[in-house]
Amino acid sequence: MTVTRADVESLDVTDPLRSFRDEFHVPDEVVYFDGNSLGALPRKTPERVRELVEDQWGRDLIRSWNAHGWIHYPRRVGDQIASLIGAEPGEVVAADTTSVNLFKLLAAGLELAPERSVIVSEKENFPTDLYIAQGLVELLGTHELRLVERSELEAAIDADVAVVLLTHVDFRSGELHDMAGITEHAHAQGATVLWDLSHSAGALPVSLNDAGADFAVGCGYKYLNGGPGAPAYLFVAERHQNNIHPPLSGWMGHEAPFAFDTDYRPAPGIERQLCGTPSVLAMAALEVGVEILTRADLTEVREKSQRMGDLFLQLVDEQCDGLGLSPACPRDSEKRGSQVSLHHAESYPIMQALIARGVIGDFRAPDVLRFGFTPLYLRFTDVWDGVAILKEILETEAFRRPEFQNRQLVT
Ligand SMILES: Cc1ncc(COP(=O)(O)O)c(C=O)c1O
Repeated sequence: MTVTRADVESLDVTDPLRSFRDEFHVPDEVVYFDGNSLGALPRKTPERVRELVEDQWGRDLIRSWNAHGWIHYPRRVGDQIASLIGAEPGEVVAADTTSVNLFKLLAAGLELAPERSVIVSEKENFPTDLYIAQGLVELLGTHELRLVERSELEAAIDADVAVVLLTHVDFRSGELHDMAGITEHAHAQGATVLWDLSHSAGALPVSLNDAGADFAVGCGYKYLNGGPGAPAYLFVAERHQNNIHPPLSGWMGHEAPFAFDTDYRPAPGIERQLCGTPSVLAMAALEVGVEILTRADLTEVREKSQRMGDLFLQLVDEQCDGLGLSPACPRDSEKRGSQVSLHHAESYPIMQALIARGVIGDFRAPDVLRFGFTPLYLRFTDVWDGVAILKEILETEAFRRPEFQNRQLVT
């Protein structure tokens, strides 16, 4: 049966998450399908950052490290993130960038398997994951990066493999890996797995410890709503923590940073994964975003996200038939993260035309239109409105206008 706007409106009325939208600043004129790239601004963030800047930094100056617990930010925010990804307090810290954390934990995986020399990943993995692996392999001069297609993964994990590096939800196709299954298979071959959760944490329930996971990293600025360039996070299973000697052996990961010893001695536990001084202003913003998510039921978040993706695909089928679009993501929502991706030969100008109409998604080379669903602040009627505008742009070929043809640096 064809979906009507009235059907879609009724989904918003019964949505158990609908009140969360009031906690975010989402401009009225915008349909925001890019919270998987940069999450929306929580309403409390400006006040929290102002307080930190004026009342803490401004008034209490350096005393704030102790008085306002600045020094505990990486652990405090890390413990909150742990609750979103199926980890225990003390297994996660918020720190650095995802790229830097990938370096640390890839090195950790290699250290735990000194007799093995291979890192396995997918050719389609997010570029920074691959670039960091390439850099580490080049630095060491003793290891190899084995890149395979998704369908070849299982066979590629053999007795030479030290670490498997995978992104749980593929950034381009939205395809979801079976975390527990792959982890079990890798362990059976004697390898560890490093999961990049950038497109999963905060969008769907993640159960790191139930899956027996070893390592994980992820972004703070996507579904965690921590703001542009927010600190990232990393997870190390408790059983591995004290067996790792961090290659980025900075003073914040020292057992006693303020003893100012000449020699590095790693802190016990997860803290040894810290490197330098935390970015306190950014931590304050991240904490607000994460705190909102800790109050949400992630099962409800997942259900809504799956329904939104299904609705989007159904509306595209019904309303945009014959207009050149085809799915670039799984149709089965169980196999998909919180996004829908579509192929079109003119994806770049189409996305520019959509953005000009207030429908913000993004373009991913070579030809993908990507629409992310952030159930805490997106409505089903946004999905309806977004597809209606997409249809209009395709039918009128408004995307052919010259102003939509120029590639900007950030796509
Ligand atoms: C899967 C994945 N990993 C990592 C990153 C980015 O890492 P960083 O925060 O270090 O730039 C992204 C950014 O979109 C991503 O999608």
